[in-house]
Amino acid sequence: MQPVVLKDVARTYRLDAVDVPALVGIDLEILPDRFTVISGPSGSGKTTLLNLIGCIDRPDHGTITVNGQPVQTLSDDALSDFRARHLGFVFQNFNLLPVLTAFENVEYPLLLARVPKAERRERVHKLLAAVGLADFAEHRPGQLSGGQRQRVAIARALAIAPQLVLADEPTANLDSKTGASIIDLMRRMQQEHHVSFVFSSHDTKVLDEADDAVHIQDGRIVAIERHRMPAGATV
Ligand SMILES: Nc1ncnc2c1ncn2[C@@H]1O[C@H](COP(=O)(O)OP(=O)(O)OP(=O)(O)O)[C@@H](O)[C@H]1O
Ligand SMILES: [Mg+2]
Repeated sequence: MQPVVLKDVARTYRLDAVDVPALVGIDLEILPDRFTVISGPSGSGKTTLLNLIGCIDRPDHGTITVNGQPVQTLSDDALSDFRARHLGFVFQNFNLLPVLTAFENVEYPLLLARVPKAERRERVHKLLAAVGLADFAEHRPGQLSGGQRQRVAIARALAIAPQLVLADEPTANLDSKTGASIIDLMRRMQQEHHVSFVFSSHDTKVLDEADDAVHIQDGRIVAIERHRMPAGATV
């Protein structure tokens, strides 16, 4: 995994002929194999920033390089393909497919990536075991608790072995104890799978877990704290 690099990125929404500048002049390097938290008050631009890094949306200005690829140059189809091959997502409201079992939800991105059946089965079972849901493979989302649903979503995000996992307030719909266990799980998965996790939160407790914390306010970065030195760095 190479760093994610944003240079002078801006995104403005147009609403009834009024411009809403959601992000302005964002210069940011997200280091590989680390746990990065984007924090800031409601409306500060966290979701907008994650959507740009996650290739769900495009900037109006500036460049974004993900895994060595300048993504703003890709066509819509190429961008979707890039997303499916390289990125994993965890959402606030889990976004699981309700008619599919936990197994099938985790398997879904592997089907899209045309991974052969035997390999799919093995990977899904391993991931469900890793998130503590080996016995829940046949449960549908409606038969799981909120914390269990988010565990399925984390397993699904890791299924294609992405270089980067993006999570938008993944604990916002969970009670604080369950939220803390989901953060622990994401931390463990980030370390074991050597992926970069970037997630947004306005929970200050979550910041303690971060390797890096990026604080945004009114669409601008106001501080970047590197809590832990990158591997191999010298002081
Ligand atoms: N589709 C949209 N159309 C118009 N304005 C939008 C749209 N999406 C977001 N905005 C505006 O852009 C700004 C940033 O929104 P964003 O959703 O990125 O904030 P956020 O930090 O994720 O907030 P929250 O913590 O409430 O999720 C806000 O002023 C918001 O009103
Ligand atoms: Mg948001």
